[in-house]
Amino acid sequence: MEFQNKTVLITGGASGMGYLCGQCYAKEGAKVVLVDVNREALDKCVAEIAAYPAEVMGVCIDIRDYSKVVEARDMAVERFGSIDILVNCAGGAETRVCNAHGEFHQNPIDIYDFSIDVNLKGAIYFGHAVMAQMAEQKSGVIIHMGSITGEEGGSTNVGYAASKSALMNGVTKSIAQLGAKYNVRSVCIAPGPVLTRPGMASMKTMAGRAADPQEIVDMILYVTSKKGEFINGTTFLIDGGRNVMFNKG
Ligand SMILES: NC(=O)c1ccc[n+]([C@@H]2O[C@H](COP(=O)([O-])OP(=O)(O)OC[C@H]3O[C@@H](n4cnc5c(N)ncnc54)[C@H](O)[C@@H]3O)[C@@H](O)[C@H]2O)c1
Repeated sequence: MEFQNKTVLITGGASGMGYLCGQCYAKEGAKVVLVDVNREALDKCVAEIAAYPAEVMGVCIDIRDYSKVVEARDMAVERFGSIDILVNCAGGAETRVCNAHGEFHQNPIDIYDFSIDVNLKGAIYFGHAVMAQMAEQKSGVIIHMGSITGEEGGSTNVGYAASKSALMNGVTKSIAQLGAKYNVRSVCIAPGPVLTRPGMASMKTMAGRAADPQEIVDMILYVTSKKGEFINGTTFLIDGGRNVMFNKG
């Protein structure tokens, strides 16, 4: 019951690591707010967590719309009274999400706008909205999701790589600097390939495999727990050693 009486808001909470975060925090006693654009998946995830039983609510919004982000924050605070942990999980690489598989210069330019809007601006929007609440509370932790692609580049996924690099450096560090006087920490978790979908198994690592989503979520839980209180303004690459690997193929 590590997170009893804590409220955790998770974007991208209706799939993959976001949903797994929701499940794990709920099992540890937290009140959970799942935010996602996919209403059908969101309703299903909320019903599953509610049946534990646990306190959970879903907010269906597109995180690219700042006014909706503010509404989501306000709904969470109205229902649960605080937001103690924000996990900015919503995101994805533009070539996969937009099904555009040409080279960078051959793909339509709007997929790069899309990627920067979701992966980078969406996280900044939520950080901005939730920081107001956390500053008032004088406590909080904000988690960003980086990626090995933010470290090594992404060839065709230029928007995704740029967004993840920005989250891993400028955004995480800036929010940690600002947040210090409000007792708000900001930490980035940057995974290598994770088996939230089978295709990730083909990405090479020194470990010879992709990560189980639980391995990444366990780190998020640790960083946001009492044991992680000394961790701030930094990025954890959890990539099976890929970042130091020769012959990545
Ligand atoms: N899976 C991997 O191998 C991997 C590796 C490195 C980093 N990451 C990052 O980790 C995070 C989670 O990855 P995952 O594979 O678990 O994700 P996922 O694709 O399973 O889920 C992403 C969720 O975000 C939601 N979403 C997308 N756009 C949105 C929008 N505009 N507004 C609201 N919700 C939106 C989707 O509906 C979906 O439910 C992402 O930021 C991803 O970039 C994933």
